[in-house]
Amino acid sequence: MPEPAIDVQDLRKHYPGTPNGVGLNGIDLRVERGTVHALLGPNGAGKTTAVRILTTLLRADSGSARVAGYDVRTQGRAVRRHIGLVGQSAAVDEVLTGRQNLLMVGRLNHLPRPAGRTAALLERFGLAEAADRKVSNYSGGMRRRLDLAAALVVDPVVLFVDEPTTGLDPQARRDVWSAVQDLVDAGTTVLLTTQYLEEADALADRITMLTGGRVAAAGSPDELKALVGGDWLEITPADPADLPRLWDVAARIGEPVGRGGLLAVPVTDRTRALVTVSAALADAGLDPLDLTVRRPTLDEVFLHITGATADSVGSTGVPGGTR
Ligand SMILES: Nc1ncnc2c1ncn2[C@@H]1O[C@H](COP(=O)(O)OP(=O)(O)O)[C@@H](O)[C@H]1O
Ligand SMILES: [Mg+2]
Repeated sequence: MPEPAIDVQDLRKHYPGTPNGVGLNGIDLRVERGTVHALLGPNGAGKTTAVRILTTLLRADSGSARVAGYDVRTQGRAVRRHIGLVGQSAAVDEVLTGRQNLLMVGRLNHLPRPAGRTAALLERFGLAEAADRKVSNYSGGMRRRLDLAAALVVDPVVLFVDEPTTGLDPQARRDVWSAVQDLVDAGTTVLLTTQYLEEADALADRITMLTGGRVAAAGSPDELKALVGGDWLEITPADPADLPRLWDVAARIGEPVGRGGLLAVPVTDRTRALVTVSAALADAGLDPLDLTVRRPTLDEVFLHITGATADSVGSTGVPGGTR
């Protein structure tokens, strides 16, 4: 089995001289090559601390971390040669054009033919038209996409992206998502951090939830959703007067609950539940507006987990922490 792109064991970092001082409280992390991994957590969870350690900008107090097969502590130079970093704030130069920014990165890294690579990246990130305008005229989303392009000039094995869409409007966020998705389709390994559950859900193969410098939960989006329980079958009545009869139908497969005008019943086998309920509805001559089986959302998972772990992580585990 090839070595994972990122392999972290019991990583710890304390910041001396600060009120609680905890950056990371012993986290484990494993990211397979060619996958997208999201570090998901509220402000102050330790996401940026982890990214800074993994990109060799900061030294951990203890624990081990390997990136692209190299030890971040003893082989920093090799790690830096194989990674790209898109930091939390934009790193591109305002007074230069988009093209000039990318060319500069190429020259600093001694790329043999930076112009061709630069043009291809501008095209790929939807910036070809704006390429020769100054970055000071770019929107937030365009800057973020230029940031991503700049991190890819040297074709990294692992790309770190710290909060790619914080502060962006929904359209710009979608544009950045599709840019990240393109990277992934091209086989780049991506570790991204985010405060947004829907972002982790949309982009990541696996998610590590951090609170207060600890891992609160880890797994695929589906595995995390399974933590809060199984699926729910939901029936939306066409007419509220049908509710009592719909209730009787739903009660055949479980114990229904009312949820703001619709009926929900927990299910273990989604296909069987749908088949059974559809048949029963037809028998009863009922035609509801909607019949679906729904996974819990990551929001529900997050509330469940942060609620459940608040005692063990102490005050630093409270969403919205100190920073
Ligand atoms: N340079 C620093 N000096 C002191 N404390 C810091 C520093 N950077 C981060 N911290 C603290 O470490 C914790 C984790 O911060 P950070 O890694 O930035 O979290 P996140 O990126 O998830 O918001 C916070 O409590 C924060 O206040
Ligand atoms: Mg941060």
